[in-house]
Amino acid sequence: MGASTPRHHSTPPPLLTKRILAFAFYVLVPLALLHYLLSLPPPPPPPTSTLTAPKPQQQPAAARKRAPPPPRCDYSDGELVRSEAAPLLYNGTSCGGTIKAGQNCEAHGRPDTGYLRWQWRPRGAGCTVPPFDPAEFLRLVRGRHVAFVGDSLARNQCESLVCLLSSAFPSQLVRGAGGGDGDGDGDELRKFRRWAFPSHGATVSVFWSPFLVNGTEKAKGGTGLNHNRLFLDQPDQRWAPEVPGIDVVVLSAGHWFLHPAVYYDRGAVVGCHQCPDPNNRTETGFFGVFRLAVRNALGEIVLRAARTEPSNRRPKLAVVTTFSPAHFEGDWDSPRACARTEPYAPGEREPEYMDREMSGAEAEEVAAARADAAARGAGVDVEALEVTRLAGLRADGHPGPYMHPFPFAGGERDRVPNDCVHWCLPGPVDTWNEILLQVVKRWAAGVDADDDASSPP
Ligand SMILES: *[C@@H]1O[C@H](CO)[C@@H](O)[C@H](O)[C@H]1NC(C)=O
Ligand SMILES: *[C@@H]1O[C@H](CO)[C@@H](O)[C@H](O)[C@H]1NC(C)=O
Ligand SMILES: *[C@@H]1O[C@H](CO)[C@@H](O)[C@H](O)[C@H]1NC(C)=O
Repeated sequence: MGASTPRHHSTPPPLLTKRILAFAFYVLVPLALLHYLLSLPPPPPPPTSTLTAPKPQQQPAAARKRAPPPPRCDYSDGELVRSEAAPLLYNGTSCGGTIKAGQNCEAHGRPDTGYLRWQWRPRGAGCTVPPFDPAEFLRLVRGRHVAFVGDSLARNQCESLVCLLSSAFPSQLVRGAGGGDGDGDGDELRKFRRWAFPSHGATVSVFWSPFLVNGTEKAKGGTGLNHNRLFLDQPDQRWAPEVPGIDVVVLSAGHWFLHPAVYYDRGAVVGCHQCPDPNNRTETGFFGVFRLAVRNALGEIVLRAARTEPSNRRPKLAVVTTFSPAHFEGDWDSPRACARTEPYAPGEREPEYMDREMSGAEAEEVAAARADAAARGAGVDVEALEVTRLAGLRADGHPGPYMHPFPFAGGERDRVPNDCVHWCLPGPVDTWNEILLQVVKRWAAGVDADDDASSPP
């Protein structure tokens, strides 16, 4: 699982060029705008560390007695079911301070509420996704630390979870207070927030890491580089050293890989996307790089767990939330760029080329990391939270123009900025956490069975 040259140099086939151009226009341009809003000065330089190829484990941890956990469920495909009856656990007022303002749709005057009323019914036989139960989730993570690592969609999912849990149990923001809202000066704090749930000794945190591995984001406002730089062989020091203290880690990234970037591996340029160097514009695409970033981030978690003294080792669950597509339709600054109030009907929108490439790579890397962790006896379970298809249907759940407060207060507008990438809170991403609860539940059942097996008779 060491760093290597990307296996897949995935320049899209020529037939897709037109699509890619449309994609570039409808997605990249608005994303560039959003990401301009979100972009940061380069992070302060933490100590360098290299993710070297892990050595084969010499002394595999003693084979652990494990009662078979319940079968793994396939949540990736299913249907959305409308449910007026399901209780809404929070709203923009009750969880106001936790929600990034641009995603607090209700507080920004979004008038319709039908998008709050959909539940996911997975296709898999015997698989269900019940409404989120805060008491059950906190019981499962009692004394544990749940961390979200990734980009603004990871933060979106984290804020949803914190709101869902805080609807029933007190929470304290114990790190990252006083930051901005994530868009401007002072937002650095907000990108590394942490909440305590004292009733259960549980912790939920978020770590900003849009590439999962070490990378530098292009500088703001033309003061520096016009492209991102990814150091694929280097773990992101903003979260990797914390792995031993994290029990459940949820990785979520993808959209930042669409930007112009140069990719480095062991100091050498190994590729670029929308290549900025006029002397070498050999485009490699980003699919292979995204795959490698997911692989190396998971590898880092497994490696750090495996290196922990077995007596100090805590069982871990690593989850990858799969790629969640954007939904720009027509011009990104049209008032109707993502103005749907209902999800797509079954079959109306099949996952697109990029959705399949991104989520497919994630699912494969999850399976590979799971096998690797088992072979090393690292005590890490690795799971995919496969929301790509579900997310693709939820064109109704983005902030759209309500990324800004009351965008139509002055009457209709011809042009208005839209966010068709993130999710309203409350909103569709709450469903991701309903599925996460089921994934955690299955993992905890296995871990608790271990505890039973290892306790004296
Ligand atoms: C939001 O939730 C709070 C607390 O549960 C409640 O008092 C308030 O009426 C809710 N607001 C809306 C608009 O539903
Ligand atoms: C990323 O790598 C660069 C170049 O080696 C290094 O200077 C920097 O400290 C690293 N940053 C993080 C956050 O890991
Ligand atoms: C150009 O960059 C690619 C990677 O993007 C590299 O494989 C190739 O060797 C480079 N060519 C030259 C002439 O530097």
